[in-house]
Amino acid sequence: MVLGVTGGIAAYKSIQLARDLTRLGAEVQVVLTRSAQKFVAPLTFEGVTGRPTLTDLFSAEGAALHIRLGREADVICVAPATADFLARAAQGRADDLLCTTLLATRAPVVLCPAMNDKMFSHRQVQANLEHVHTELGYSVEGPVAGALAVGEGEGPGRMIEPSQIVQAIGRALGRSPDFTGRRVLLTAGPTQEPIDPVRYVGNRSSGRMGYALAEAAWRRGAEVTLVSGPSSLDAPYGVSIVRVGTAVEMDRAVRDVIAKMDVSIFAAAVADFRPTDPKGSKVKRAASPEGLAVHLEENPDIAKGSRDVRKPGSIAVGFALETDDLIENARGKLERKGLDLVVANDATEDGAGFGTDTNVVTIVRPDGSTEPLPLQSKAEVAEEILDRVGALLADRSGG
Ligand code: CTP
Repeated sequence: MVLGVTGGIAAYKSIQLARDLTRLGAEVQVVLTRSAQKFVAPLTFEGVTGRPTLTDLFSAEGAALHIRLGREADVICVAPATADFLARAAQGRADDLLCTTLLATRAPVVLCPAMNDKMFSHRQVQANLEHVHTELGYSVEGPVAGALAVGEGEGPGRMIEPSQIVQAIGRALGRSPDFTGRRVLLTAGPTQEPIDPVRYVGNRSSGRMGYALAEAAWRRGAEVTLVSGPSSLDAPYGVSIVRVGTAVEMDRAVRDVIAKMDVSIFAAAVADFRPTDPKGSKVKRAASPEGLAVHLEENPDIAKGSRDVRKPGSIAVGFALETDDLIENARGKLERKGLDLVVANDATEDGAGFGTDTNVVTIVRPDGSTEPLPLQSKAEVAEEILDRVGALLADRSGG
């Protein structure tokens, strides 16, 4: 890939970006503009990528350097992208190595603008962004609101973080026709059902499987909504997240959006029961010397309850975390909840279930077939599940 760096203070973060991308296995060819070199040195990037940094359109590498870079790149990312660079990219200028390479490529291009917030909101900058996005098809990621270098301004101007840029590059590379433009809903994490203001009934779900699915679906080009119970994980970049606490709140959030969804994946570990009568103030030890009984009532079954409100022809996927009779139970859930696939896993198996980074799952289908998958990371399991969902989507749209 080509990583273009232009002259803004956020260029210091691009060193980390170049390093992260290299560690992920990318061959990162860095191109610095003249003003970028006022902020960061070519040698710094060479140190983290192991490849000489390019700066000149006319160099010892030969006159056709930009043609070779443009042809060989699988993706081009410019981070930070300054106001001046955006103006030149919008005009199709060919006055330095980076802009010329953009003209010479047909690879996807990801731009990560960064500048003062007043500059960013200027009509001309906005017009340039609009042009590179809608006319030239470049992805524009960020900027976001947050602390800017010259401690002033509260509007958007700050470059997105290197880890988020990595995700955006992944999306530029990973788009698949089955998912591009599709709406995907995920439920994830546990729910917490209050006993009193400080205590709850819950479970050990970390949310990792659902978050991995949300991240992977976005990378494939989907518009993703993640309805998440309490989880310590960061919201995946690009995904629209709705945070909820209880099963009833999760049910409401799902009902609000599900009619528009092409795919719904129910990965949340919803608490099946909630305290019937949550107390308004903390239950004191002295008030219950005989012990404390908490009566529980049933929560809504979110997956099942959504059957009649799902978009016709959409795909629904559920999970079944079991300790006994895995396949039998998974088949029952497929039918009861009107699902197209159930991802079954055995909570007692090593490397499966809550709190681990890995999972061992079996895909169960309505025709009764079962497909066991090997032990893999949750990120890999997410890709496997989406491969199968993508095939179902392609089938339904006659593809
Ligand atoms: N699910 C849901 N709402 C619930 C319970 C479960 O949407 N109140 C979804 C889960 O997200 C999962 C699937 O249904 O996709 C199966 O969840 P699981 O807890 O295994 O099933 P239950 O219906 O609770 O059945 P049981 O308690 O008998 O195992």
